[in-house]
Amino acid sequence: MTTASTRHTILVTGGAGGLGLAMARLFHERGHRVIVCARTESALEDAASEMPGAVAIRADVSVAADREALMAQATTEGLDILVNNAAISRAHDYVNDYTLEVDRAEAEIATNLTAPIELTRLFLLSRRVGGRDATPASIVNVGTPGALFPLEANPLYCVTKAGLRMFTLALRRQLAATPVRVIEVFPPALDTGLARDLDNPHMDANGEEVILRGRELRGRDPARRRSRPAAPRRVRHVRAVRTEGRG
Ligand SMILES: NC(=O)c1ccc[n+]([C@@H]2O[C@H](COP(=O)([O-])OP(=O)(O)OC[C@H]3O[C@@H](n4cnc5c(N)ncnc54)[C@H](OP(=O)(O)O)[C@@H]3O)[C@@H](O)[C@H]2O)c1
Repeated sequence: MTTASTRHTILVTGGAGGLGLAMARLFHERGHRVIVCARTESALEDAASEMPGAVAIRADVSVAADREALMAQATTEGLDILVNNAAISRAHDYVNDYTLEVDRAEAEIATNLTAPIELTRLFLLSRRVGGRDATPASIVNVGTPGALFPLEANPLYCVTKAGLRMFTLALRRQLAATPVRVIEVFPPALDTGLARDLDNPHMDANGEEVILRGRELRGRDPARRRSRPAAPRRVRHVRAVRTEGRG
């Protein structure tokens, strides 16, 4: 049972949908104070109405001013756990004209990499300024197996998540002597809205061609899947990375 001393105030970015909402629900059920942010008002309203007492904030974490405002409000609420969950994943096919002609890298880098780094900085700064350096806190970064090996259809997702992983590992070492724990979560493949860009040509302005090529690259084309050889070398590589990641 959660008591006043074990009750945390937890900010979940992207907490109005997908995995973020699932985590927020769990925290809420367990009696913690939950703050969620997202860009879509209707999703925030739904999340707030199903979790009485939760704070729902409209914020685009890829925008610096939104991050500042979000963290100012969250720290006022007594934030002690930051969950960097919000992310996007887009198809980028570097043999396709659309990918070559349209600059779409920045939003993904800003959302998946700049945002968690900057929210972490703002969180740690707020603790210092507020004289709360000595109180326990946690930073939870949501990773993905795509940080460990390339997903050909969505390379920037892998790039940003690999970067986040290195940030997480280095930060954990830097904060080892402080009361701030740095946690990395590695969810398996989930049936959420994340991969809609790869699944549904009408959800994104990519055009059907890049979507179909993305499916093929992800092994959804049965002919390609049949001819694909097993990849023991890749498995060994993943194991090696996991081993290095410890400590
Ligand atoms: N799905 C998988 O298979 C899988 C596997 C491994 C790891 N993960 C990780 O799990 C985390 C959650 O993914 P998910 O599958 O739950 O994705 P999702 O269903 O697409 O949910 C992502 C959430 O983030 C919000 N969001 C996106 N961009 C945002 C921004 N710029 N500012 C604020 N909120 C933003 C979205 O709401 P708005 O659009 O309203 O802003 C949405 O609520 C991600 O870090 C992802 O990398 C997912």
